Order: sequence, then C-alpha cells, then structure tokens
Amino acid sequence: MFWKETKGLKELNPSSKIAITLFLLIAGIGYLLGFFNILLSYSPVDQEPGLSLRDIQISFYGARETTILEASIDGTMKEHFQSDAEYRATKDWLAGGASEEGLAALEPIFESSCNTCHSADAQVAGVVTETYADVEPLLAQDTGKSISRLVSISHTHVLAILPLIFLLVFIFSFTAFKEKVKTVVMALAFLTILLDVGSWWLAKISPAAATMVIIGGSSLAVAFAVLILGSLYDMYVKRT
Ligand code: HEC
Repeated sequence: MFWKETKGLKELNPSSKIAITLFLLIAGIGYLLGFFNILLSYSPVDQEPGLSLRDIQISFYGARETTILEASIDGTMKEHFQSDAEYRATKDWLAGGASEEGLAALEPIFESSCNTCHSADAQVAGVVTETYADVEPLLAQDTGKSISRLVSISHTHVLAILPLIFLLVFIFSFTAFKEKVKTVVMALAFLTILLDVGSWWLAKISPAAATMVIIGGSSLAVAFAVLILGSLYDMYVKRT
C-alpha cells in the first residue's frame, strides 16, 4: 500500500527491528488483555460458566421476559449481596409485585449491598437504588443495552482500535508479501472493525444476531493475529 518497492521488514536496521518487534508484541498483549476483559465481564451474565450466546443475548437484546433489576441481580450484580438469603428476599419481593412497602423492608439489604455503588452521589452505571423512586425505573422490561450506552461503547471502541489497526497495517505494508495478499489482508483488517462494532447493533435488534457478535469479535482477533504474525514472519523468517 504505502511503498511501491518494499524490500521487506527483513532489510530494516536492527534498531528499527527491535522497536517494531516490541511494538507488535505489546500490541498483541494489549489485544489479549482486552479479549480476557471481555470474557470476564460477559461470562457471569447468565450465571453459567463461560461465554455463551445467552450471555450476549442478555447483554445486548436484554432478558425481555424479566425486568432490568431482576436481570441484574440474576447476573453480574448477584455477587454483591452479602448472603444468599438477601438475594432470595429480593427475588421474593420482585415475585410478589415489587411494592413500595416491600422495598422498605429490604432497605438494609440495598443499603449494605447496592448503595455503595448506586448512591445518588456515585451513580455507577447511571443506576441509583436508594429510594423507591430510584428503583421504580429498574422495574421496567429489560431491553438490554440502551442506545446511548451502545453509542458510547461503539465510539470508544472505534477510536481505540482504528489507530492501532492503522499502525499494524502500516507496518505490514513494508512486508515483502505479494501486493494482492497485502491488499486483501489490509482491507479486511479495517473491515473487521465495522463487522465487530456493527454486530453489537444487530444483536441489540435481534437475539438471533448474537452469533454475529462472536463472528465479529473473532474476525478482529484474526486480523490482529495475521497483521502481527505476518509482520514478524516477514522480519525474521521470510526469504526475499
Ligand atoms: C462494586 C460496585 C457495585 C455494587 C456494590 C453494585 N453494583 Fe450494580 N452495577 C455496577 C456496575 C459497574 C454496573 C455496570 C456494569 C454492569 O452492568 O455489569 C452496574 C449495573 C447495575 C444495573 C444496570 C444493569 C443494566 O442492564 O443496565 C443495575 C440494575 C444494578 N447494577 C443493580 C444493582 C443492585 C440491585 C445491587 C445490589 C445487590 C448492585 N447493583 C450492587 C456496580 C455495582
């Protein structure tokens, strides 16, 4: 792409080789950390071990058969209860119609388990659980990620990944692979960003698109692997 007649990364000065090798390795480690972060934050959503389609469906499309509050305490918020009895009591209150008087009785539970993060001051994730008026909006149907949250994560994701993919593509452009191979690899690398982020929006619209989130995420992983390993191969192994 960038250089008409590249001799390949093998011809670089030793100093450049060291710098680029370290950059590629650290970019790869950074990607793996991001990947494990996603696994760890999405796996507990359905309270079953491992990342499943159900985790993705609940996260994006929502657990539509239940409420935002119930989905949260059956998912990642469950661990914040001090005991299983507290969790049970909250479940019973929800099953019994979630009345205001009922919540008053649960006050100490919310005080010690939830309000540390969901106070009017802290408002972690925009959620407050202090009074019945705060909790009432959480009794609505769970429709997964809100549009504003999706816009927010799409925006940060694209802005973080795009420059990184560009730098990896830039380095890859110096390799001595055939021009056709490079064209395909580079174009697909950029397209995987759209596939990855676009899949979240599809999964918000339809639970059937949860598989697309796996495909989108995996395609980005493949792009990282091909760009990093391809460049390293060109630098240290390939004969020109
Ligand atoms: C240590 C901090 C912390 C505590 C304690 C905590 N939460 Fe959360 N809560 C979070 C964070 C962070 C998020 C956003 C990320 C997520 O959804 O996992 C969140 C999100 C939520 C959401 C929104 C979920 C959605 O789909 O939008 C609800 C509802 C919620 N919490 C309820 C609770 C309840 C009820 C408790 C008490 C049992 C509780 N939280 C305890 C940190 C906390």
